[in-house]
Amino acid sequence: MDNQGFEMYGESIQKSSNGTEWPRKEERNSKWSLMKVFLVCLLACVITTVIGVLVLSLVYVNHVPFIRETVIKDDGTSSPKPEEKDVDIKFQFLNHVTNSKVHKYPGGEIQWARYRNDVNEYQSDEEMVFGRSINNHRSKMTFGTLRIKSKGLRAPHWHFNANEHGYLAQGSAWIGVIGADNSVVTTYNVTAGQVIFFPRNTVHWVKNVGSEDCLFLLFFTTHEELQTLDVDDAFFSTPEDIAARALRPQGGVNFIRTFKKQEEDQAINLPPNLNELVKNATYVQSPDNLVWQFFYDLKGSAEYPFPGGVFQWARYRINGTGLNEKEKIFSESLNKHENTLTLATLRIFSNGLGQPHFHFNANEMGYVISGCGQVGVILSGVTSNFNIGIGDVIFFPVGTQHYIKSVCDEDLLLILAYSTGNQLETLRMDDYFHGTADHILAQLFFKHQDEFKKFPRPAKK
Ligand SMILES: *[C@@H]1O[C@H](CO)[C@@H](O)[C@H](O)[C@H]1NC(C)=O
Ligand SMILES: *[C@@H]1O[C@H](CO)[C@@H](O)[C@H](O)[C@H]1NC(C)=O
Ligand SMILES: *[C@@H]1O[C@H](CO)[C@@H](O)[C@H](O)[C@H]1NC(C)=O
Repeated sequence: MDNQGFEMYGESIQKSSNGTEWPRKEERNSKWSLMKVFLVCLLACVITTVIGVLVLSLVYVNHVPFIRETVIKDDGTSSPKPEEKDVDIKFQFLNHVTNSKVHKYPGGEIQWARYRNDVNEYQSDEEMVFGRSINNHRSKMTFGTLRIKSKGLRAPHWHFNANEHGYLAQGSAWIGVIGADNSVVTTYNVTAGQVIFFPRNTVHWVKNVGSEDCLFLLFFTTHEELQTLDVDDAFFSTPEDIAARALRPQGGVNFIRTFKKQEEDQAINLPPNLNELVKNATYVQSPDNLVWQFFYDLKGSAEYPFPGGVFQWARYRINGTGLNEKEKIFSESLNKHENTLTLATLRIFSNGLGQPHFHFNANEMGYVISGCGQVGVILSGVTSNFNIGIGDVIFFPVGTQHYIKSVCDEDLLLILAYSTGNQLETLRMDDYFHGTADHILAQLFFKHQDEFKKFPRPAKK
């Protein structure tokens, strides 16, 4: 408001002083004229402010949380307040997850690209547009980055409403998964380039056993709020006598009472006196038939090249087609659970193109690990082309045509997730162009039928 008022004031002054027609004899009156101009401007200022306040309060009544957010955001910068309708439509498909709120814990941090029930939890309108987009499209997707410091521990926990698929971009970790029934415990080491899978409601933990940070890129199969319970929170929420009877420790309930809940949230835990607490850590690896249910060596898997780059897949294959024995265990494990994801790394060579295509049976979400690119999305009625770089999350609702082009000197590397546990169904632009009869194309594009012979047949994939 202040800015707007100031601009009007300045403009009026300029107009008056440009009014060169003022007669000379009135020069001695110019002070008074200036005063008048000033008063008029002041009045204009006041009126503008009043109107502005009125408009704002009207909007405020209708969009309380929205206004609250933009006001907060304006604290830091002088940029004008965006209206929701002013947010670039690209943010339906793009989220700068690196700009999102950093949830810090003693042992690391988490950032999210997700839907929120409470709009006040969005940091920006762009984030809100993205959150609403993945929810409105029933995407079955939530994305998060999980950074764990050396020796840090993502506390044992489970998710009520989602399977979790993760890709370790950096570092090495020791993981535990506790299944239902006989509570079989599976533990295994994971290194960069490998994939983990935690079915809904399995208790799992992640311990950084390397010297550098671990960076996990995580996809959860829900477009609602992710619901999670940490084991320590479950413990401290259980009455002492109930816990004592369930766990039957020596010393009974008195021993249970010696446990003290930490003030800080221990979601990612790293006690300062860890070396005193832990004397004998061993990192056991369970047998293959257990481990490969929850683990896949994506980096070491078969490469599927295409003209602009190469895919590698962590997915279900009917009859294990093209998979080795260990990979078949993973494939069958995915197939046993509902709503699993297909994961892939996509490397697009410098200047390479992942040509326009769409999927019949899956939403797609991706994260840029390295490089930079240009993306185009066409949804019915919405078209958007935009640039992507490291740390960006992209989202393509099922059926939307999209392409990805690598635009810098290095390869563009993405981790992609598709919301199908079945085989991904895809149609590419050259396929549907070639598949359409040439006289239909001629009629459609007002072009002679012969001209369509200039399009070469698509290479068989
Ligand atoms: C360390 O732990 C392992 C497995 O829990 C156990 O077999 C071993 O005896 C322990 N060693 C010491 C010195 O406590
Ligand atoms: C798992 O990693 C830890 C820490 O690097 C190492 O001590 C252990 O030997 C590894 N286990 C296996 C089975 O590779
Ligand atoms: C899978 O195996 C079954 C029985 O062995 C066979 O009938 C079927 O054709 C196979 N499917 C594919 C896609 O290979």
